[in-house]
Amino acid sequence: MRIAIGCDHGGLEHKNAIAEHLKERGFEVKDFGIYEQVSVDYPDIAVKVAGSVKEKESDLGILVCGTGIGMSLAANKVKGIRAAAVSEHFSAKYTRLHNNSNILCLGGRVIGVGTAIELVDLFVDTEFEGGRHAKRVDKITAIEEAN
Ligand code: RB5
Repeated sequence: MRIAIGCDHGGLEHKNAIAEHLKERGFEVKDFGIYEQVSVDYPDIAVKVAGSVKEKESDLGILVCGTGIGMSLAANKVKGIRAAAVSEHFSAKYTRLHNNSNILCLGGRVIGVGTAIELVDLFVDTEFEGGRHAKRVDKITAIEEAN
């Protein structure tokens, strides 16, 4: 599986630890930065990771900012992206199972690195359930196309 990853200055330590972990697990990781502790605008990173997922260069994306919220708001502006800001295990699993989310957004100032890695593992290891949930996700796509 190919995973795009990125962060702003609120998530560098988390992003680096997650990228390392995913590589150790054998995933192909495309790192869109940042690479050092500099202040950046989170939409600039979100659009790169979201673009990689949209263009199907990557299967899933991970974004980390201070809260996970700014990254999710920005990524969700890209067509075909379903980005979820998550800080606990149940949602990390169910946003794949039921929402077919393709980007996980985490808050580097909200959760620790250990929890972040557990949430990433749940996210990448869970498949969309389809069935009745597919109809609902299709309705999200229809809203996107109509607006
Ligand atoms: C940056 O200070 C902070 O606003 C950003 O990391 C994120 O939390 C935005 O949602």
